[in-house]
Amino acid sequence: MRLIRACDYDDMSRKAANALSAQVILKPNSVLGLATGSTPLGMYRQLIEWYEKGDIDFSEVTTVNLDEYIGLAPDHPQSYRRFMDDNFFRHINIKPENTHVPNGLEADEFKESARYEALIYSCGGIDMQLLGIGHNGHIGFNEPGAAFEKNTHRVPLTEATINANKRFFPDGDVPREAYSMGIRSIMQARRILVIVSGKGKAEIVKQAFFGAVTPHVPASVLQLHNNVTLVGDEEALSLYD
Ligand code: GLP
Repeated sequence: MRLIRACDYDDMSRKAANALSAQVILKPNSVLGLATGSTPLGMYRQLIEWYEKGDIDFSEVTTVNLDEYIGLAPDHPQSYRRFMDDNFFRHINIKPENTHVPNGLEADEFKESARYEALIYSCGGIDMQLLGIGHNGHIGFNEPGAAFEKNTHRVPLTEATINANKRFFPDGDVPREAYSMGIRSIMQARRILVIVSGKGKAEIVKQAFFGAVTPHVPASVLQLHNNVTLVGDEEALSLYD
């Protein structure tokens, strides 16, 4: 694992944006696996700024997102499709038809899981997968205990994740399930870029990257991947030394 230390959130965002833009510059038709959450927002802002300056071109890029809530329409304010459109896609020159997010409205979990896996395969696989980490070590929505060999599948969310997400749903109606790429889909990416920021993530970063590899800490599986870069700020890495 390559460890890149950043001093704070903005520095982490810039360093992660550098890694992602290097990928796109070296391979303009890259397939990027993208993530939601508050951690990547600064990185997306930085990439938009570089795009506006003419430093990066997304016209040949394809994206596949990690996950989506089941039951939310693409234009629901809290859907991950909407998050990606609002925070990234509509500010850059990516072709909308080249951006992919699981379909939260598909009721047939087997159909949707198979469709999404086939899609990733038909794009040629993921060149670089971006990941944040949940406080309980989840990646995508692979919660503690998730089998390492799963591909895209339907996930019942844990109470901890439902509670963590409550702040985004003013009516309290938090979805209880999601479609998520599985650990296996994530591990098949050629490169993985993990970003972590803030004191709140320090304990889980320690467990995930410097503890035992176990399904109880889903992110710990990343220790077995041969091309992982972890970009963390001082606070998130504070328990590492
Ligand atoms: C959600 C997403 C994850 C993300 C996690 C952490 O659960 N499904 O992909 O990594 O939140 O979010 P944050 O970056 O806001 O801490």
